[in-house]
Amino acid sequence: MQGHFITLEGGEGSGKTTVLDLVYKELSDLGYSVLVTREPGGIPIAEYIREIILNPNNTQMEKRTEALLYAAARRQHLIEVIVPALERGQVVLCDRFIDSSLVYQGYARGIGMEEVMAINHFAIGDLYPELTLFFDVEPEEGLARIAQNENREKNRLDLEKLTFHKKVYEGYHLLLNKYPDRIKRIDAKKSIPEVTSETVERILIKLKG
Ligand code: TMP
Repeated sequence: MQGHFITLEGGEGSGKTTVLDLVYKELSDLGYSVLVTREPGGIPIAEYIREIILNPNNTQMEKRTEALLYAAARRQHLIEVIVPALERGQVVLCDRFIDSSLVYQGYARGIGMEEVMAINHFAIGDLYPELTLFFDVEPEEGLARIAQNENREKNRLDLEKLTFHKKVYEGYHLLLNKYPDRIKRIDAKKSIPEVTSETVERILIKLKG
């Protein structure tokens, strides 16, 4: 495939979604054809699945059920959105992907990263991102940012305790050490313009490499 598949990862309030819009604009201005997406990506089948996962009423959802649903939604979004864009030669910037499942379901919920990797491998085959940017900000600060932003939609996962988000943070650092070639750290404590330019820089290194 001719395009480039890049993912953004991080805990709650890491700012990746805000920065993504700005990165899109900068890369487009440089002449790249960019597609910004996130699961479920407006794909009806994946939307339905995601609705089940995030519904605040579904408190009894078992953790493996949740992991399988994420993997199912991921597959559909991959096939309907990401693969066609890569075939068109676009740069695909995806807000969260397999690493979110490894960290949230595998590590923080305690299923085990290997197990979650296995079902995700079934879902995505060999279509791993060529670059993943981890937006590093401590959970205390991320959650404080969210608390300030009243417009942000609150879902079932926002209601988790700080200990859960600390595990998420720890999980991302484990992945950072495990996949140093693929995953690069962005210091997300910096200002939005600084984080944006660091992100663009990292992406350009990949695109020009
Ligand atoms: P977001 O708006 O911050 O991306 O929120 C999505 C939530 O879904 C976030 O709490 C992380 C969670 N999530 C998982 O637990 N596993 C996954 O595989 C994905 C994609 C998201």
